[in-house]
Amino acid sequence: MNKSVKQAKRKAPLMKTSKLVRKVKLKSKAQPKRKSAPPVSLVREPLTHYGLTPVTQVNGSHRFIDLFCGIGGFHRAFEKQGGHCVFASDWDKFSQVTYRANFPNTTLIGDITKVSVEDIPEHDVLCAGFPCQPFSLAGVSKKNSLGRKHGFEDERQGNLFFNIAAILDHHRPAAFVLENVKNLKSHDKGRTFKIIHETLTRDLGYHVYYRIIDAQSVVPQHRERIFIVGFREPRFFEWPEFPKDGPRLGEILDSKVEVKYTLTDHLWSYLQNYARKHQEAGNGFGFGLTNKDGIARTLSARYHKDGSEILIDQGRGVNPRRLTPRECARLMGYPESQKIVVSDTQAYRQFGNSVVVPVVERIAGSVINALHEPVLENEPLIMELGEPKVGEVEAEIGPTSRKKRKAYAVPA
Ligand SMILES: C[S@@+](CC[C@H](N)C(=O)[O-])C[C@H]1O[C@@H](n2cnc3c(N)ncnc32)[C@H](O)[C@@H]1O
Repeated sequence: MNKSVKQAKRKAPLMKTSKLVRKVKLKSKAQPKRKSAPPVSLVREPLTHYGLTPVTQVNGSHRFIDLFCGIGGFHRAFEKQGGHCVFASDWDKFSQVTYRANFPNTTLIGDITKVSVEDIPEHDVLCAGFPCQPFSLAGVSKKNSLGRKHGFEDERQGNLFFNIAAILDHHRPAAFVLENVKNLKSHDKGRTFKIIHETLTRDLGYHVYYRIIDAQSVVPQHRERIFIVGFREPRFFEWPEFPKDGPRLGEILDSKVEVKYTLTDHLWSYLQNYARKHQEAGNGFGFGLTNKDGIARTLSARYHKDGSEILIDQGRGVNPRRLTPRECARLMGYPESQKIVVSDTQAYRQFGNSVVVPVVERIAGSVINALHEPVLENEPLIMELGEPKVGEVEAEIGPTSRKKRKAYAVPA
């Protein structure tokens, strides 16, 4: 990228920086510097934006950053689509151990709020599964009951979105992919999502798509998450297709499992009594007993506590068992090569917090495809389709057929 194009990119299309973004103070410059220059990106600048020849073909690597990286679900997915991770951040020391064991060559730093945006390398795609606690129903009700703040009022976690916004504002990557719990959309009567959406679109000038996706078409787990995809310029973006029928648990279960994963008599009768009490009180809460022909409930970060949300039936006369960490890895779509180098407790927590790799892999593919297409001349149309059903489109933007897309594309 030559200097003048680079300067033009800095100026456009964002002219206005949100007050909220400005509010974020990016404090220290004490983070590690890159040892060697990152690879030159092949995701070219949208030259049409500057009245130059549009790029229709992109081959090779795109650079991405992996914020709130956990154990690297985004990393695996984008790498599989030909990407190269140039920076990662997670402040949890156990996640860092796992991340380093799996991605020893990636620059990994801790608290993102302590990093100066200038110290983050240039990148084409920003990835972030930002912490969901302040937005999740569990987190909200727990915090409410404790009389504590939540959402954006939560000073410790709620504002992390604005760290992402500040990085977008500074680096202007060609695209981003954000992930969060499904109820981010409805949190605080929709106000939380509205602020996020407005910051990304109105303040930062990105063209944003979002969708709730249930991972059960690619892994044997009901897991709904919201994905927010944005492009610096209008792009033709199509959400990936997902298979209609997903796999069953039998495909990821080991036939022989250590006895320690079988529930003790004490824990099993406790869970049954607890479920009975709640049923009598008219609450649906209980354990999730399933077998090789079923699918799992959502694996949570607290699975290590009692394993109650996913229990595997072992037949008559034997207490059910919980999943092993390796089975959890498969449940989240990680390959067998994923190194598990922490205790079972930490491993359960890490997989419970992770993204489902094959879901992100498909989204990454669609994002990269969109970046390979010419920039559109017009702002894509937005059609709100109402509340989605499981795995369905939440909001669809832009021309939906190749023919229409041609009409939108900038002529070469
Ligand atoms: C929902 S998890 C993301 C998991 C990740 N997407 C994956 O695939 O494993 C959120 C992560 O954000 C990290 N985190 C929270 N606050 C942070 C901060 N200020 N700086 C860096 N990481 C942070 C947590 O440690 C946690 O691992």
